[in-house]
Amino acid sequence: MSADGQSSIAGYLETVFSLKGKVILFTGAAGGIGSVICKGYARAGAQVALCDMDADKLTELEKEIRAEGGSASSFTLDLTRMGDAADCVKRVIAACGRIDVLFNCAGINKREGLLDVEEGTYDRIMQINLKGLYFISQEVAKHMRESGKGNIINMASHNSVGMLGGCSVYGAAKSAVTALTRSMAVEWAKFGIRANAIAPGHILTPLTTVTWEHPTRSAYLKERIAMERPGTPEEIVGVAILLASDASSYMSGMMVHIDGGCLAGGVPWDFDTRYN
Ligand SMILES: NC(=O)c1ccc[n+]([C@@H]2O[C@H](COP(=O)([O-])OP(=O)(O)OC[C@H]3O[C@@H](n4cnc5c(N)ncnc54)[C@H](O)[C@@H]3O)[C@@H](O)[C@H]2O)c1
Repeated sequence: MSADGQSSIAGYLETVFSLKGKVILFTGAAGGIGSVICKGYARAGAQVALCDMDADKLTELEKEIRAEGGSASSFTLDLTRMGDAADCVKRVIAACGRIDVLFNCAGINKREGLLDVEEGTYDRIMQINLKGLYFISQEVAKHMRESGKGNIINMASHNSVGMLGGCSVYGAAKSAVTALTRSMAVEWAKFGIRANAIAPGHILTPLTTVTWEHPTRSAYLKERIAMERPGTPEEIVGVAILLASDASSYMSGMMVHIDGGCLAGGVPWDFDTRYN
């Protein structure tokens, strides 16, 4: 142990939170939030199976993780194609030997009013955010059942609970992801599988920059976030590690909100106080 006790702290934290040796199948790995969590997982010792439809970004991410000494390999996956999920799961098991954790992070959104949405948009959002997630989880859970253990983390959203205008299909899909997380927790506990969800609030990624640069929408959002700012993907990593590690071994069926105090009520009204 070093004089300042640093190595004993690191050693203790490693016993509690380490992902050493865990194989994590991660969908949406190439995305703004996904790529940052995958780097965090690799730094915490996991072997990350990076799955996404964006093959170029996957290759880039794999290189970055390997350059840091982490373990990652890439697998193309298109959740709109039935059969692709089962094939991807097979390829990951063949390459990595098993799957300890499934992280369902792939997701899309298209902001349109309830009266504007057409069937094609509805189907695409539901297919990727819900149906694809459902069937890849089913495929992975069959494998986890055989191993007698497993861990599933689903990316939900603040829109699982609170709605903005123009997110009816996305919100419906994310609410369903929360319900599905509870079903997984209930039905699959007997196979040693637990399931939880992460619900980020408003996170700044390449996809949401346009909203945060919008004069009225960014002002609207800031008022609804107690911290008055968007979150960063890095601010999701700690909870993602907690849920993937054995530190959360008795947690199942839960949704963890990471939203800067959005659900709590946002910026308070003008109340009487001596402490401004
Ligand atoms: N950014 C936010 O503020 C925010 C807030 C709450 C929840 N989320 C959720 O977090 C997740 C990641 O969001 P993000 O902001 O990083 O978005 P992103 O667009 O950067 O990442 C999404 C990833 O999913 C992949 N993907 C899309 N369609 C796919 C398909 N058919 N098959 C396989 N992969 C596909 C994309 O290639 C991309 O890499 C999503 O589920 C999103 O709904 C984001």
